[in-house]
Amino acid sequence: MVTMATLLVLLHLCGIQLMADARPTCSLPGKLVQSAHHLLRDLGGPFPAHCLRYNSNISFPYSAFPAATANHLQCRQTLWVVYESLQEADLMFEDYELPVGEGGVTWDDQKLTKFRHLQTRLQEDGDCLSSVDDSGTLSSYFSNVTAVIQQQDSAACGWMVLRRDLTEVLRSALTLHHGCFTWTNKTTDEHFCRQLN
Ligand SMILES: *[C@@H]1O[C@H](CO)[C@@H](O)[C@H](O)[C@H]1NC(C)=O
Ligand SMILES: *[C@@H]1O[C@H](CO)[C@@H](O)[C@H](O)[C@H]1NC(C)=O
Ligand SMILES: *[C@@H]1O[C@H](CO)[C@@H](O)[C@H](O)[C@H]1NC(C)=O
Repeated sequence: MVTMATLLVLLHLCGIQLMADARPTCSLPGKLVQSAHHLLRDLGGPFPAHCLRYNSNISFPYSAFPAATANHLQCRQTLWVVYESLQEADLMFEDYELPVGEGGVTWDDQKLTKFRHLQTRLQEDGDCLSSVDDSGTLSSYFSNVTAVIQQQDSAACGWMVLRRDLTEVLRSALTLHHGCFTWTNKTTDEHFCRQLN
């Protein structure tokens, strides 16, 4: 017969177990997210001062990240923010051309191509996260980015803001919620990273 005390001990142990491994079964490979972050960071120069004025139009809702990631649900939310941001940015790249010429976007083509490959790969890996029901959280941000990118005179700044925010989203997730990602040395991931770096 299982006594109440035994049950409590068991629950306690399971609780500790759950805390120790907050990583959900559906996760994202940390190394690939890290590579994506580095590529974005090194894509071009620093954020241009003249684009700062768009901060009032576009501000990333960092509150979409959970305050802590002590359990599976909080990790899932964190990974979803990463997945969804990459996904929305991908749509942006597909729907709009980067402005070229004077006042345009001059990013390293090779790094951008590699980043776009990683984006595709991470969307496949994170497909299981698409069911997180929180579709409203980031939509105001991305529709505001779209509005700025759609206007010819502000398009370049829109892309600069998107790059800055996406870099910060990946950086925050990797540093503050490191344990939510999978950190294995799987040969496929290693190989993939080597090709990219
Ligand atoms: C989007 O733009 C609206 C109107 O300018 C503003 O009220 C809102 O705070 C913006 N949202 C984000 C997330 O930037
Ligand atoms: C930015 O916001 C201001 C004030 O809300 C608005 O007048 C302006 O049209 C917006 N700019 C863009 C590019 O959306
Ligand atoms: C993965 O490989 C790196 C070096 O490439 C090593 O430092 C690290 O300990 C390895 N991690 C695991 C989990 O094997």
